[in-house]
Amino acid sequence: MEKRLFSSLLLVVLFLVGESHCKKQAEQLGHFYNVKLKENSGIDTSLFEGVHHVKRASKVHPQEGLKEKDRIDRLPGQPQVKFSQYGGYVTVDKSAGRALYYYFAEAQKSKESFPLLLWLNGGPGCSSLAYGAMQELGPFRVHSDGKTLYKNLYSWNNAANVLFLESPAGVGFSYSNTTSDYNESGDRKTAEDSYVFLVNWLERFPEYKGRDFYIAGESYAGHYVPQLAHTILSHNKKTNMTIINLKGIMIGNAVINDETDVRGMYEYFKNHALISYEVADQIQKSCDFSSNASNQSDDCDAATQVVNQNIYYLDIYNIYAPLCVHSNLTAHPKRASIMNFDPCSDYYVYAYLNRPDVQEAMHANVTKLGHDWEPCSDILQKWNDSPSTVTPLLQEFMSNGLRVWIFSGDTDGRVPVTSTQMSINTMNLPIKTPWHAWFHGGEVGGYTQVYKGDLTFATVRGAGHQVPSYQPKRALSLVSHFLNGSPLPNTSRYTN
Ligand SMILES: *[C@@H]1O[C@H](CO)[C@@H](O)[C@H](O)[C@H]1NC(C)=O
Ligand SMILES: *[C@@H]1O[C@H](CO)[C@@H](O)[C@H](O)[C@H]1NC(C)=O
Ligand SMILES: *[C@@H]1O[C@H](CO)[C@@H](O)[C@H](O)[C@H]1NC(C)=O
Ligand SMILES: *[C@@H]1O[C@H](CO)[C@@H](O)[C@H](O)[C@H]1NC(C)=O
Ligand SMILES: *[C@@H]1O[C@H](CO)[C@@H](O)[C@H](O)[C@H]1NC(C)=O
Ligand SMILES: *[C@@H]1O[C@H](CO)[C@@H](O)[C@H](O)[C@H]1NC(C)=O
Ligand SMILES: *[C@@H]1O[C@H](CO)[C@@H](O)[C@H](O)[C@H]1NC(C)=O
Ligand SMILES: *[C@@H]1O[C@H](CO)[C@@H](O)[C@H](O)[C@H]1NC(C)=O
Repeated sequence: MEKRLFSSLLLVVLFLVGESHCKKQAEQLGHFYNVKLKENSGIDTSLFEGVHHVKRASKVHPQEGLKEKDRIDRLPGQPQVKFSQYGGYVTVDKSAGRALYYYFAEAQKSKESFPLLLWLNGGPGCSSLAYGAMQELGPFRVHSDGKTLYKNLYSWNNAANVLFLESPAGVGFSYSNTTSDYNESGDRKTAEDSYVFLVNWLERFPEYKGRDFYIAGESYAGHYVPQLAHTILSHNKKTNMTIINLKGIMIGNAVINDETDVRGMYEYFKNHALISYEVADQIQKSCDFSSNASNQSDDCDAATQVVNQNIYYLDIYNIYAPLCVHSNLTAHPKRASIMNFDPCSDYYVYAYLNRPDVQEAMHANVTKLGHDWEPCSDILQKWNDSPSTVTPLLQEFMSNGLRVWIFSGDTDGRVPVTSTQMSINTMNLPIKTPWHAWFHGGEVGGYTQVYKGDLTFATVRGAGHQVPSYQPKRALSLVSHFLNGSPLPNTSRYTN
């Protein structure tokens, strides 16, 4: 595979290196933070202030008849299922010609009473179809032949009606006819467009208006999810109407607070025997990860270089996982198991979603875009704003009575459990339920601690960055408890 290298002379932010069509969500995050934490990155890291009030009259358009047009009869290579699926575009800016692609899997049962759950992946620049829908919590996974699908028994549409959004424009099938939009991306525009998407989507699917609504996501969606939630809350308040009935958010292995996220990462490397105590000490002494730090000392640079060599051959997003050795598709599907994640899955999904028959069935790429569908975007050129922390938003949700859950797959080294614990600790929340193991199927699913407020922190034992890929049963149990608002079970009895 050809290695592409974009470079920047003007100190603007680019999404750097990517092997085409195997650029991983987490890789994207690593490159982004390498740039973000440098001097003159050009990224505005000030706190998220919210987005302009969306004038509903100009942004909300009639959607009659579009829902039925979006119905997906059957995906190519799909096993029989009983729930309905939809896919299509929602225009978020008419004059620019900007439209976001969604895929919606209704609940397998009780779709009328189950909540609506929006799932977002991170990057920035990665697709919720690539990861969330096709490799993590969606109803299907792609076989190694790149053209047939098999069922995910632990799909989250066992617990909710699940909506996947490719966001912002330039990611996956989402696009803009005004290409300069691709260098004007950032957290604020992502939140604004996602909000406009949602209010229009609810016009298209009016039976979900007023339904209990939750947003979940992982990785850089640690920014997207709270920022969209904040936008929803502030529009509800400004209009004095429950435009969107937001009840809670859940983020996993999420970027929350830059300084502690980075310090916690080195801590994790040290305590998982990936780097030496000496190098860890040197980092501790010579690096400044505070949000206003610019250049680092030579000692710091030397130490981080050693770290990079030490972790080079690992999948740092799941430090115990096998690597993808043969990425070639196979003529016949390899035997696949939901409980045993295939590290080459990105390649299968890439092949599947680039098939013309699949795109037609999904109502995707209707304008014949000039680039491939990619799991992480090659065409976003610049990211303009990315606050150094989102903790003020989490505190806002707690004081507004929203449910806030933060989970962490404990074998991820990129946004590891230590980072998340340190980031939560910066909020100094009083403890409501002290640390204890939580159980699923008679085993420890992970550990949890509940803070007054209400914030639940939960680890998922044996899961990497993409928690539902590695621990699908535990992940389904976690999301079910989150949606029910019930505490994770503290006993191994009655939890099969
Ligand atoms: C983008 O341009 C194409 C071709 O002109 C058009 O068919 C499409 O509707 C436009 N997209 C939006 C969202 O306006
Ligand atoms: C964004 O791209 C457009 C053309 O694609 C260019 O005219 C504009 O100067 C670019 N803006 C920035 C901030 O790089
Ligand atoms: C908002 O609604 C509440 C309760 O219905 C009402 O008391 C209040 O006056 C409203 N505020 C505005 C600004 O409309
Ligand atoms: C840098 O930020 C920290 C808080 O993150 C603050 O205490 C410190 O004074 C700042 N230093 C400078 C030089 O602005
Ligand atoms: C940062 O760079 C400036 C000049 O480029 C230099 O004077 C300063 O010592 C550097 N700071 C550190 C911590 O190396
Ligand atoms: C994978 O495909 C490439 C080119 O299509 C071929 O050269 C290579 O031998 C294949 N590798 C395996 C392990 O089949
Ligand atoms: C869209 O379709 C065109 C023409 O078939 C194809 O070349 C392109 O790779 C597709 N792009 C995406 C994003 O699916
Ligand atoms: C376990 O959880 C239940 C229900 O949440 C609670 O009533 C009980 O006190 C807990 N037991 C212990 C030992 O914490």
